[in-house]
Amino acid sequence: MKFPMNVLEVFRTNLPTRITRVTKVIAWATLVSNIAIILTGGAVRLTASGLGCPEWPRCTPDSWVATQEMGLHGAIEFGNRLLTYVLVLICALMFFALLRLRRSHRSLFRMSLIILAGIPLQAVIGGITVWTNLNPWIVALHFLLSAALVMVSTMLLNRIRLELRAAREAGQESRHDSRQDSPAAPGAQLQGVAGVRMSHGASDAVTSAMAPVILVATWVSVFLGTVVTGTGPHAGDPGSPRHLFDPDLVTRMHVVPVYVLCFAAIALLVRQYRISTAPNQRRSAWSLMIVIIAQGVIGYVQHFTGLPVILVGLHMLGSALLVVTATAVFDSYRARYVTRGLGGDEAVAPALSTQSASGQSASTQAS
Ligand code: HEM
Repeated sequence: MKFPMNVLEVFRTNLPTRITRVTKVIAWATLVSNIAIILTGGAVRLTASGLGCPEWPRCTPDSWVATQEMGLHGAIEFGNRLLTYVLVLICALMFFALLRLRRSHRSLFRMSLIILAGIPLQAVIGGITVWTNLNPWIVALHFLLSAALVMVSTMLLNRIRLELRAAREAGQESRHDSRQDSPAAPGAQLQGVAGVRMSHGASDAVTSAMAPVILVATWVSVFLGTVVTGTGPHAGDPGSPRHLFDPDLVTRMHVVPVYVLCFAAIALLVRQYRISTAPNQRRSAWSLMIVIIAQGVIGYVQHFTGLPVILVGLHMLGSALLVVTATAVFDSYRARYVTRGLGGDEAVAPALSTQSASGQSASTQAS
């Protein structure tokens, strides 16, 4: 028993105790891989390979893997199952990158835990999708949970970037101060800064109201989009059940929250130039606007051209990017997260502590 315990201890003591650029790279990989699995899942459905492996967790009653006789559909479905392991690996790296920061950066650690726990949950729901012959409600749930993991991954990445940016800016400032013999000079870039609020730019009643409206309208659009898909022709297998809704009616219903989203995004864009918003707020609002326009154009073109698979795939990518940008808008206008510095409790030196412009305390455990 002693040997494995030692191995675990060596492993634990070698885990990072601070947020670095590597943490940011892993957070990017977590976000990109969670978007990528939406696309590969879409490819399974759009190539009618949904039942390429007709069993779960085995591929067939006799085999854990796809065999040659199962053809291209089997290879595509099984390939998507294999990608789950790549995703688990990346999300496990994210979890371990934050494990020793779990007390100092509790909300970040929890996000990495949610993402890691979400992957096996998605594998099980993927299995239920197969068992129910690709029931459109279960397919929708599978998509929505992946979109939720994309949202949490975006939040995590935004917070890690903020910690690093705050440290960088403090480092630049302290280097400037050091030329004037300030004692605060060394260490700011290394230790980071506590107390910088995520939504630190200007905000007023309009922008504060529009940020949550944008997030809610995005999620309602995404949910109703999955209902349109469940009614449409791309079931994932020719024999799978479909919703019995009127396709035109559900498409019109899907577009209602899209219009709400457009109006809210325009209101935010116009309003932000009348108050002195921060660069990240303006960037997030413009990125959102660009994605909405692209997604709207793809949506209408696919609707009027008989739903070609390429456009449907692009519309799925657009949905994931919309979740990313709507989350970024919410983060930059409403999030209460305040930086805690780069080092965890187990890091050697304590983080420098400053007060944010908003006066929030560094110890606040806000998300
Ligand atoms: C900009 C906001 C929009 C969002 C967030 C959005 C989101 C979605 C989502 C998540 C799906 C389901 C994807 C899947 O499971 O395959 C979907 C499907 C669909 N959307 Fe949108 N959509 C938007 C705009 C539009 C617009 C403006 C139209 C125009 C009519 C449109 C038409 C459709 C159609 C026809 C489908 C069904 C595709 C199929 O049968 O596979 N969407 N949308």
